[in-house]
Amino acid sequence: MHTRLSKLNSLQRLCLHRRYSTGKQSIYDIFNQTRKNGRFSVSTEGWIKSFRKQKKFTFFHLNDGTCVKSLQVVADSQLCDSCLSAGCSVRVEGDLVRSLGPDQAVEVQATNIQLIGECDNKENPLKPKSPYSLDFTRQYLHLRPRTEHHGQLLRLRNTASMAIHKYFQDQGYIFIHTPILSSNDCEGAGETFSIETDVSVSTEVSSGQDEQSDHDGKLFFGHPTYLTVSGQLHLETITGAFRKAYNFGPTFRAENSVGRHHLAEFYMIEAEIAFTENLADILREMESLVKTTCCDVLEKNAEMVDYFWKSSTNPEQSIIAKSLIDRHYVRMTYTEAIKVLERNNDKFVYKLKWGCDLHKEHEKYLVKYCNNIPVFVTDFPTSLKPFYARRNKDEETVAAVDLLVPEVGELIGGSLREERYDVIKSRLDELGMTASYQWYLDLRRYGSVTHGGFGMGFERLLQCFLGISNIKDTIPFPRWPHHCSL
Ligand code: 4AD
Ligand code: MG
Repeated sequence: MHTRLSKLNSLQRLCLHRRYSTGKQSIYDIFNQTRKNGRFSVSTEGWIKSFRKQKKFTFFHLNDGTCVKSLQVVADSQLCDSCLSAGCSVRVEGDLVRSLGPDQAVEVQATNIQLIGECDNKENPLKPKSPYSLDFTRQYLHLRPRTEHHGQLLRLRNTASMAIHKYFQDQGYIFIHTPILSSNDCEGAGETFSIETDVSVSTEVSSGQDEQSDHDGKLFFGHPTYLTVSGQLHLETITGAFRKAYNFGPTFRAENSVGRHHLAEFYMIEAEIAFTENLADILREMESLVKTTCCDVLEKNAEMVDYFWKSSTNPEQSIIAKSLIDRHYVRMTYTEAIKVLERNNDKFVYKLKWGCDLHKEHEKYLVKYCNNIPVFVTDFPTSLKPFYARRNKDEETVAAVDLLVPEVGELIGGSLREERYDVIKSRLDELGMTASYQWYLDLRRYGSVTHGGFGMGFERLLQCFLGISNIKDTIPFPRWPHHCSL
């Protein structure tokens, strides 16, 4: 036992020693280094954010993306290459000293400055530090990460992603990589991107049989396949063996929308929970995920979050965002929601009656009606939700839910899943889908359990919490109709 333990310890030590290190100092390292004798040597690289050349001295701010703060560098102007300007990449060697300026505690007195990459700011469409509109920077996706605004967004996206993983890991979920290539259109909304090869491929299989080939052999798998619109059905196979599972991955929808809330490629977080009989349990989990994630992001990156709240076009943004964290979310059934909306039909482009789907204008109205507090709408008519949603006792509605939030509308969609073999079989028969869903029926045939889950749009969460009016500014490389050039 003792030898085994000591072996483990030496293995752990080995792992620690093998931690990757470039041996170089990042700007984060420099700010965090303990200063010995008030002065020590540094050598680092980065991009110049702002640049001021005077006769005798040159001042610039250096940033390498390892922290938000930039490092001030002061150099004898004779040390500086004449091409040096904002936007250049440089290597700097020098001494870190206490700064006399009011804006920073320390600065580097450079002894050597090496220009790595020049930056022609006459041509550069996104000159460092210039204030550009988000519509403008969106035209230069390859340069956008260098802007202050998008840089902060990427950091917050990172924090929020990790907060979501932490939430599920802490709650005992298993993380599953559901596939991107799929043979099902889970939502049945016909918004799938189809997969074809650009040359004809042989679909001969190892058994020597020819698979049925369509489109002159362009169907790689021998049958129609799509980019995933949801990993839910795959997660359901996992909750046939694991109580709780989740995924967090790219999701694709060929929606012909250029609106502010839709992307053709977005990230969805989906959770699936076995042995759950009540939609109310699913609602509690949804609420808890949103609250914990937002709280975590606020705790870790308060300054950055505040920057977004202040730059939002909505002066109430901080109040709206806080309502995601500290208010008890409203609950109402679809039938109750329709009553409220019907009374106000004169305000809508699409007039509603029971059985109609809610549009963005109705979703936003409902949230406003609930004092800008997120609202769960439950128990939709069967025809409005996909085949898998569990039928309620009234036979007219299903145990499905949408969480609606301020400014964005639907943030999460979820439901109890129909676990009863006979009920799901007759629903699949009705829709003419039985043949291709035999595997799904197997899940109900062998050890079926009550279960349910939900899917949350990651970009819509960022949009609502940070107050970003266009969803295209919440993701590094937005894709929407006629826009996928990079
Ligand atoms: O409501 P949806 O379609 O639900 C599902 O796909 C379920 N199968 C999820 C599940 O139960 N496992 O999509 C879930 C969420 C929406 O509420 C919305 O936030 C986001 O995904 N979403 C989009 N986000 C950005 N762009 C789009 N085109 C989106 N479509 C859906
Ligand atoms: Mg939905």
